[in-house]
Amino acid sequence: MDTSKITADQLRARKGGVRIPALTAYDYPTARLLDEAGIPLILVGDSLGMVVLGYPDTTAVTMEEMEHHTRAAARARPKALLAADLPSRSYRTPAEAVVNARRLVAAGAEAVKAEGGLSIADQVRAIVAEGIPFLGHLGMLPQHVLEEGGYRIKGKREHEREALLEDARFLAEAGAFAVVLELVWPAVAAEVTRTVAIPTIGIGSGPDCDGQILVVNDLVGTFPWFTPRFVTPRVRAFDQMRAAIEEWSRSVRS
Ligand code: KIV
Repeated sequence: MDTSKITADQLRARKGGVRIPALTAYDYPTARLLDEAGIPLILVGDSLGMVVLGYPDTTAVTMEEMEHHTRAAARARPKALLAADLPSRSYRTPAEAVVNARRLVAAGAEAVKAEGGLSIADQVRAIVAEGIPFLGHLGMLPQHVLEEGGYRIKGKREHEREALLEDARFLAEAGAFAVVLELVWPAVAAEVTRTVAIPTIGIGSGPDCDGQILVVNDLVGTFPWFTPRFVTPRVRAFDQMRAAIEEWSRSVRS
């Protein structure tokens, strides 16, 4: 047995300790690269719908697509914990959540993520009761972007702040090993981080979470047509790829 394998319990134990850098991967080479770089948590996010499959948002992503990309990332056999997203409409009931969480585990996921807190309480309890590590996701919920009419910061209003705190407490008590906070007002993300017993992993939620997660394509500039405001790409890999392709194409033609 590879004892250096990172588990959900080990990530939970990093609460308040060394911060957790997490990134998405949707394929074998990216998962392998992230693992070789020592990233401890890799997420096959349903953001794959936008940055890989060309959908306008994540709402159309299917279970079959998530399974396909989870299998590809899992072939890297990362030391990192490999989590996968339950896509939209795959966890409408506790029974459906368990069936689909098991499908992602069969595809190679070691944990699953779903969006919501008390609104999906029974689904979260059912997944945890199956022994499947669960990663929460609160704040802006991309699977609800159409109802919400856009990607809006959450937590600035008092009722949103209270709901976030209540949802985060629920997820911790229900057994989630960590919770993603997406587009949460930074002061409220810091308050959630101080008050819940599990690591918070922020995305566009300020610097005070226990970890940070990004869509890898945003970080390395391989989806140049849209970059969220809170991300500064560390490289613009697409520009280099474009230059290489154009240079090669010219060399073939001349
Ligand atoms: O789908 C995704 O990639 C995500 C992360 C951005 C947190 O949910």
